[in-house]
Amino acid sequence: MRPYSVAVAGTGSSLLVVISQQILTVGRPGAPRVLRFVVPCDRSQLISVPFGEPTITRGAMAENAAFPYPSDRLQNATALVTGGASGLGEATAGALLQRGARVAIVDRDGERAKGLADALGDRTRAYVADVTDEGEVARAVEAARSDLGELRVAVLCAGIAWAQRTVGRGRPADLGAFETVVRVNLIGTYNALRLVAASMAANQPDPGGERGVVVMTASVAAFDGQIGQTAYSASKGGVAAMTLPAARDLAAIGVRVCTIAPGVFDTPMMSGLPETSRQSLEAAVPFPSRLGSPAEYALLACQIAKHPYLNGEVIRLDGALRMAPK
Ligand SMILES: NC(=O)c1ccc[n+]([C@@H]2O[C@H](COP(=O)([O-])OP(=O)(O)OC[C@H]3O[C@@H](n4cnc5c(N)ncnc54)[C@H](O)[C@@H]3O)[C@@H](O)[C@H]2O)c1
Repeated sequence: MRPYSVAVAGTGSSLLVVISQQILTVGRPGAPRVLRFVVPCDRSQLISVPFGEPTITRGAMAENAAFPYPSDRLQNATALVTGGASGLGEATAGALLQRGARVAIVDRDGERAKGLADALGDRTRAYVADVTDEGEVARAVEAARSDLGELRVAVLCAGIAWAQRTVGRGRPADLGAFETVVRVNLIGTYNALRLVAASMAANQPDPGGERGVVVMTASVAAFDGQIGQTAYSASKGGVAAMTLPAARDLAAIGVRVCTIAPGVFDTPMMSGLPETSRQSLEAAVPFPSRLGSPAEYALLACQIAKHPYLNGEVIRLDGALRMAPK
């Protein structure tokens, strides 16, 4: 047993803090308030539960205390992963599967997606779609729902990298390339977000009122873009910036939205780098001084999917890396 400092805040609804089905405190509805106290308990016993209605008896509490958030929320859930045929998406598909989910791999590289789905077994299906194409993604979402069941989780990894200085050797950068990067990374992410969220809207809510969760992928380049990264940073900055308004929009249907902003990860996207660049990237990561493993991205994606209170947040996953100008 370790003491945990507990803070709960709420407006307009009751808040309970429960240790092993025993009510420690009940907040009154109405005024915003924050309750703070220290209790000896095991962390897994600690639950804070917002309720819509203020009248809660001990009996009702005991009943409700049993419902929250089982640790196996991914068991038998259907998850869709864009860019799931390679790198961070591939690792996430595997991690979701390991946790008992059924997984729809959506990628424009159909051959690779199919090969991976075959290798992962019959709880996985591959769907070919370019995330920038409305019809292709809509069809993939619909097919995944009909083949594997209602979508509860979506992890949006599809993306491309690009580097070019705004003016290089006296010439302006290629506007078409800028448009392509923004189209795939930002508009493609939004396209998938809106379509999976619309599908989730039809789900039965779980006992906490949640119908689904979407994890998007930005990059640390959203915050500290390097020389040559105007297009990439603009696209990833857009993903980071839309996280909160998307979470606010989708709160009405019980869908959470978070974004992971990875630092430097060891995926095929990085494999084109010369060894010296790779070494200098690793050296720039304070700790651990190495590239991130795709499994570490996947671990966070699964934790976001399982954690009912994470919403509207962009989480850097970067070993404390802050990118230098170049
Ligand atoms: N690897 C890193 O260090 C790193 C760092 C920060 C952010 N990211 C982001 O993470 C995401 C995944 O990167 P990765 O390193 O795994 O790359 P990756 O190249 O290994 O995988 C990307 C996958 O997305 C698919 N894809 C690309 N464009 C698509 C489109 N228009 N429609 C459908 N699928 C498409 C590709 O076919 C591929 O399977 C990207 O959004 C990337 O920008 C990666």
